[in-house]
Amino acid sequence: MRDAAPTTIYLSDYRPFGFDVISVELTFTLHPNRTRVASRIAFAPRPNGDGRFFLHGEDLKLISARIDGAPAEPDITDDGLTCAVPDRPFIWEAEVETDPAGNTALEGLYMSGGMYCTQCEAEGFRKITYYPDRPDVMSVFTVHIHGPHPVLLSNGNPVNRSENQASWHDPWPKPAYLFALVAGELHNHPGSFTTKSGREVELNLWVRPGDEGKCEFGMQALKDSMKWDEDVYGREYDLDIFNIVAVDDFNMGAMENKGLNVFNSSAVLASPDTSTDMNFERIEAIIAHEYFHNWTGNRITCRDWFQLCLKEGLTVYRDSQFTSDMRSAPVKRISDVIDLRGRQFAEDQGPLAHPVRPESFQEINNFYTATVYEKGAELIRMLRCLVGADAYSKAVDLYFDRHDGEACTIEDWLRVFEDQTGRNLTQFMRWYSQAGTPTLKVEEEWNSGVYTLIFTQSLKPSDATPDPLPQVIPIAAGLLAPDGREAVPTQVLEMTEATQSFSFEGLDARPVPSVMRGFSAPVVLESDLPVAHRAFLLAHDTDPFNRWEAGRSIARDSLLNAIRTGAAPDPAYMDGMRVTLQDDTLDPAYRALMLGLPGQSDLATALHKEGTTPDPDAIYAATEAMRDARAAHLGDLAQPVYAAHQVTEPFSPDARQAGHRALANAMLALLGRLDGGAQAARQYAAADNMTQKLAALSVMLEAGNGDDALAAFEAEWKDDRLVMDKWFALQVVASRPDQTAKIAARLTEHPDFNWKNPNRFRSVMGALAGHHPGFHAKDGAGYHLLADWLIRLDPVNPQTTARMCSAFQTWRRYDDARQTLIAAELDRILATPDLSRDTTEMLTRIRG
Ligand code: PHE
Ligand code: ZN
Repeated sequence: MRDAAPTTIYLSDYRPFGFDVISVELTFTLHPNRTRVASRIAFAPRPNGDGRFFLHGEDLKLISARIDGAPAEPDITDDGLTCAVPDRPFIWEAEVETDPAGNTALEGLYMSGGMYCTQCEAEGFRKITYYPDRPDVMSVFTVHIHGPHPVLLSNGNPVNRSENQASWHDPWPKPAYLFALVAGELHNHPGSFTTKSGREVELNLWVRPGDEGKCEFGMQALKDSMKWDEDVYGREYDLDIFNIVAVDDFNMGAMENKGLNVFNSSAVLASPDTSTDMNFERIEAIIAHEYFHNWTGNRITCRDWFQLCLKEGLTVYRDSQFTSDMRSAPVKRISDVIDLRGRQFAEDQGPLAHPVRPESFQEINNFYTATVYEKGAELIRMLRCLVGADAYSKAVDLYFDRHDGEACTIEDWLRVFEDQTGRNLTQFMRWYSQAGTPTLKVEEEWNSGVYTLIFTQSLKPSDATPDPLPQVIPIAAGLLAPDGREAVPTQVLEMTEATQSFSFEGLDARPVPSVMRGFSAPVVLESDLPVAHRAFLLAHDTDPFNRWEAGRSIARDSLLNAIRTGAAPDPAYMDGMRVTLQDDTLDPAYRALMLGLPGQSDLATALHKEGTTPDPDAIYAATEAMRDARAAHLGDLAQPVYAAHQVTEPFSPDARQAGHRALANAMLALLGRLDGGAQAARQYAAADNMTQKLAALSVMLEAGNGDDALAAFEAEWKDDRLVMDKWFALQVVASRPDQTAKIAARLTEHPDFNWKNPNRFRSVMGALAGHHPGFHAKDGAGYHLLADWLIRLDPVNPQTTARMCSAFQTWRRYDDARQTLIAAELDRILATPDLSRDTTEMLTRIRG
């Protein structure tokens, strides 16, 4: 049976806990099925608390409980216990038993590849012991671990180590979600870092034996992150030791536990022959992200889970700044906007839409979303744009000064900006409270030397936001003179009304506007401006983002036209691409991005927005036609550009080399449409790195000459889990839509399809869901296969199952036949006995 009445939690119901937790001492005696956890917790009633002593606890066997040494008699429920307690400080002691080997949900204490590890965010600590498992309860932890394992780790600094025993003390008060423990037989890749005040920090990267060769890049990324946070935010590390552990079975990317970050091995292990350039960049960013949480998340944490964006939005923004500094800022910005449009805009358009700071939830794990993370980061970026870089730094310093050691809210965050700048941010707060992507319409007027831009914003009412109000939108805009020079350099127009005009005087000639430079706000820009403007901006815009955007919007409109009317690709697009490709003043990575086409799901989003029912087959056909036409138009350039961007020096994952490889691989894909994959086969045979191998294999699979290489790849890499994830995924990604579900189904029968491992499950099922025409194939086979596997995974791992349900979130935009097929699958999953709370909440919201 499903939970009879799933409870909804409301932000407005927030009440502080009635007790302070003065200190926590935990003693673990590890055993695969019967781990004992003894807790000794000092509580003190708070002056105005309600005296109700409730400790969360789930799936725990209580062995004993004492208060001040005397046996206690708690009332145990499904989700915790209550107990009569004295009206003065007291010591709570409890012993519980848990079953880490039986914990397939990967939340709480569990086992992965023979090692013990924990995952506590958001509410997993309650599966380890009885505790007030809420982020506003912060305390100092001491941890003792007993077990026959060479490596025994927890948070903070090591205080004592002997045979089969280790103790750790974390001096920084923290909420329970930042607790971590790791035990096992692990290899250490050591390093060290000297902080700006001269303290020596021991760094360790712990991996499973066999992964020793994949550590150096991550270690360097950690040092770079530590340095960057000192240089840019003035934040120094605060313990003697920093440990990172790579774990194969992990629901998410990584976790920022204090002093002991735990990573999905795919988010930290890297080597040239097993990782692509994209993997390297992602790993660097995730290591930075988790490290940056030490200040934005750990030293200052969230009062409650509604404030999740307080730590996540800010930390994603910080890691994006880091990547921009380490690599190319325009390339990073463009990639982030592609990702935002692909994931967050789609979320905003459907039944899962929610504000960056939600006001209610049933299962908090379902709110680790693109809206909270990526849109949350956009809000920080806008704030910085509105107040300026200098005021931003000062306000953030004030935030650290004022709130260090506290559990905070978005109101606290905005108040430091108000106090620092004297601005009123009441209207800005709407970005946090209103769901949906605003549309920003732009029109222009040219009147005897005065040029005017007229903007109109609108936000479609939704269940989450029935009565939307205008938001403050920073519009970074510049004007170009007819000769292509910058007539008015970028300035930030601050829009606060539903409709607002901005005039520019003293111009010699009618300019061409470049608005929303750098994508200065997460809105959909709708423009009535002449199409010729875009070709002009593609050739001349001084803002790299908008130059890319001009090309992208020409491509998008051309594709949308082809989908609607079968029109041939726009010659303006082909010409623009020709010029771009040959422009050696442009960074190769940037040129590679220029050649990317809007994703098929993004095209469906755009069609839906204009009121058209997207047809996945038509979208696929138009995209393929565009690719063919492009290969024909640019084919003569493909070989010379490919040759010009071969890297001859030894492999390095840096941005410069990666850019050359990206552009060469874009040419390889063009060539694949002309030579049946012959050039790709040569690259595959000669490549000494995974970036080139995988790109070649992908072109070959699409060209139809990849079968032998696919088998050779498997033979070569069958023992490497992360590389095999790519092997599984690629076959689905590169499949023809009429084959996608069949290939995915066949892969689930492969002996190495360890579906309980989230990475492996996602490599097939995530790729299926991400293949727009394949997943939405008319016969419903894609829907059916995914539903089968979600039903199978749910009892094993509700979190990963629930996350994958979002594959169905856009279902209402498709035709009736597809909707009927999907509805049947949603209902079939919902009818499954004992469906988890996580999956139930997701599917109920999606089903509507
Ligand atoms: N807090 C993690 C991060 O953003 C994400 C995460 C959430 C990991 C929940 C595990 C569980 O860095
Ligand atoms: Zn995070």
